This record gives sequence, structure tokens and C-alpha cells, in this order.
Amino acid sequence: MQRFLRPLAVLTTALLLACRPQDTAPVPLKDLAPFPVGASISPTLLKNNAAYRNVLSTEFSSISVENAQKWGTIHPEQTRFNFTDAETIVDWARANGKRVHGHTLLWHSYNPAWLTNFQGDSTAWENLMKTHIHTVVTHFKGRVASWDVVNEAFSDAGTLRNVEAKPEDGSVWRQHLGPDYIARAFRYAHEADPAALLFFNEFGQESNPAKLKATVDLAADFKRRGVPIHGLGLQFHLGVSQSENGLSEALRQTAAAGLLVHISELDILVSDWKKDPTLQYTDALQNRQSAKYKFIAQTYRLLVPKAQQHGITTWNVGDSDSWITQGLKYTDWPLLFDANYERKKAYFGFAEGLKN
Ligand code: G3I
Repeated sequence: MQRFLRPLAVLTTALLLACRPQDTAPVPLKDLAPFPVGASISPTLLKNNAAYRNVLSTEFSSISVENAQKWGTIHPEQTRFNFTDAETIVDWARANGKRVHGHTLLWHSYNPAWLTNFQGDSTAWENLMKTHIHTVVTHFKGRVASWDVVNEAFSDAGTLRNVEAKPEDGSVWRQHLGPDYIARAFRYAHEADPAALLFFNEFGQESNPAKLKATVDLAADFKRRGVPIHGLGLQFHLGVSQSENGLSEALRQTAAAGLLVHISELDILVSDWKKDPTLQYTDALQNRQSAKYKFIAQTYRLLVPKAQQHGITTWNVGDSDSWITQGLKYTDWPLLFDANYERKKAYFGFAEGLKN
């Protein structure tokens, strides 16, 4: 009898192990969410990292272009455009059935020296802006579904960036083209691709009422004037202590503007923007971060009307390719995936918020 029991026990154990819930892959985010879930991506990682590509392919339905469509990359000289990196991203995204969100046609930052030093008059500056927008949007026409036309045009005071205390915070666009450059940028983008959805993208709406008011007032003004604007982006680069009220109010007021709403650059810093190389990613911090991701997914789903849900995009994919850790050198773990592109508690919290 003993002879038969042992193989049976082995078989039973094997079957039980194979059916452990944690071994079955969770439903991917893109299949859970009632709206697009995206990430901003880099061409280098896309080309060189299979785990990165696999997570993008499996989990996300939308791709944002992190740096490859910024002036500094795509328009390195006045008479030369460089689409190489952007094409790598757009080609991959379309080959894998992902929506592409273009970023960004005008920004005060990441501009090439030839532009910031350009000495033309206002007509020459207008032609620079018009030519750039027409050229870039036409190049991607039909392949880029939506654009951040203008990024971060407002100062912390809620006024248009102009000449600022720190020169790098100033906007050459406002300085050389006057306050209505934003409306003209939207019109040029619409001329180039009338089917593209056009967004104004900003950060800080969750913690700065002046900025939140400035963005919704811009939307109302553009709608009144017939300026072709379709959506507002809330970047949501957040500290883990960010108040839920601030997040809810930003989403509520932005949704009330009646346009598409895109959480466009989501990450949640457990360091709360404090540089501390000794910081440990404790269970407590992981749980707080997971709960915040859940809250954001839940609140977006419940507060933003379905017809206005452009989606939620994280800025970068894994903790080791985040601009926070790589660019700003914070000791932090801000995203849904770890350095090996494995799912974190944050992932499961976000997934929970997408469902319930
Ligand atoms: O590619 C060069 C590399 O060749 C060089 O060796 C290295 C050393 O300086 O720089 C590399 O370029 C860096 C680039 O990221 C690619 O990694 C730039 O210096 C660096 O300034 C750039 O930072 C980007 C930043 O925007 C400024 O454009 C971040 O990756 C990007 O995540 C960040 O994204 C912005 C959004 O566009 C707008 N909202 C805020 C968000 C965070 O700042």
C-alpha cells in the first residue's frame, strides 16, 4: 500500500503548488482598467532591455514619449530635425498596438542652445514656433493620437512663466511671443493634424490652488474662443504624504472643465522629496505608497466621467529608470515596478484601485 501512497502524495503536492494563487499571473493593468494605462519610455531601454519591453507589452495600453520629441532632441539645429529616437518609440508602440501620446511641442525647458540664443524679432520667433509644430505634428500625423502641445506654462503664482528669478524657470515663448502664444501653438498643432487630441500639461494642481485655477481658466478661455484644446494633463509627481483632498479637488475641478483628463506623469515618492541616502524602503512606506496608488486609480475612475478619461500614465516604468532616481538622484522607489521590472505592492494597490 505504502508503494502507491508516496507517488500520489508527490503528485498531489505538485498539483497544489502549481495552483497557488500567487503563481498565476495577475490580470494585466491594461485589461483591468476601464481607460488607457500608460508609461513614458526611453528608446535606449526599449532597444536593450527585454524585461522592460515585456512589461510594456503586457501591462500598458498607452505610451508617452519621455524625451525624444522635446526640442533638445528632435530639433537640434534650426534647419535640422532628428526623429530617430522618436521613431524607435512610435514604431514599437504601433507595432504592439499601443496608443501614442506625444510630449511635448513647447516647453520652457530642455531647449537647444541655438533656440534659447536665437536673436530674431517676434515674427521670426513666431515662424520658429509655427515651423516646429507644423513639422513635428505632420511627421507623426495619424501615428500620434494626442499631444502635450504646451507643457508647464504657469509659474507657482499661477501666472504665465515669463522672465523669472531663476533664468531656467523663464519661458522664451512668453518672452518673445506674448501671452497668447499658447492659443497659437494649439491652432498650429490642429492645422497639422486635425484628428490629434491636444492637451495642456501641468504639474502641481494637487497642491497649488493658483496653478489649478490657472489651468481650468485657460481651458474655459480656449473653449470660449474656439481654440482647439481637447484635454488637460495633471502630471501628479507626488510625495507619498500628498493629501487625498488635494488630489480629489484637482481631479474634480479639472474634470469640471469638461475636457479630457490625463494623469500624465504619475509617480509617488516615498522620500516625500527629501534627499536621504539612508532611507529604507520599509513595509510601512511600501504600504502607504500602495494605498496612495490605489486612491488615485479609484478617485480618477470615480470622479472623472468615462467620456473624459484619457487615462493614467506613470512617468517611466521601473524604479531604476525613474527620472527621480536616475535624473535627480533621490534614494527612492516611486513606481509600480522594481529595478528588475517585477510587480511591487504599489502595482497591486494600483490594480485594486482600477477594479474597486
Ligand atoms: O542623453 C544624455 C546623455 O547622453 C548624457 O550623457 C547625460 C548626461 O547629462 O544626459 C542625457 O540626457 C538627459 C536626458 O534626461 C536623458 O536621460 C538630460 O541630461 C536630462 O536633463 C533629461 O532629463 C529629463 C527631464 O525631463 C528634462 O527634459 C528626464 O529624463 C525626463 O523624465 C523629464 O521629464 C519631465 C517631463 O518632460 C515634463 N514634466 C516633468 C518631468 C520631470 O522633469
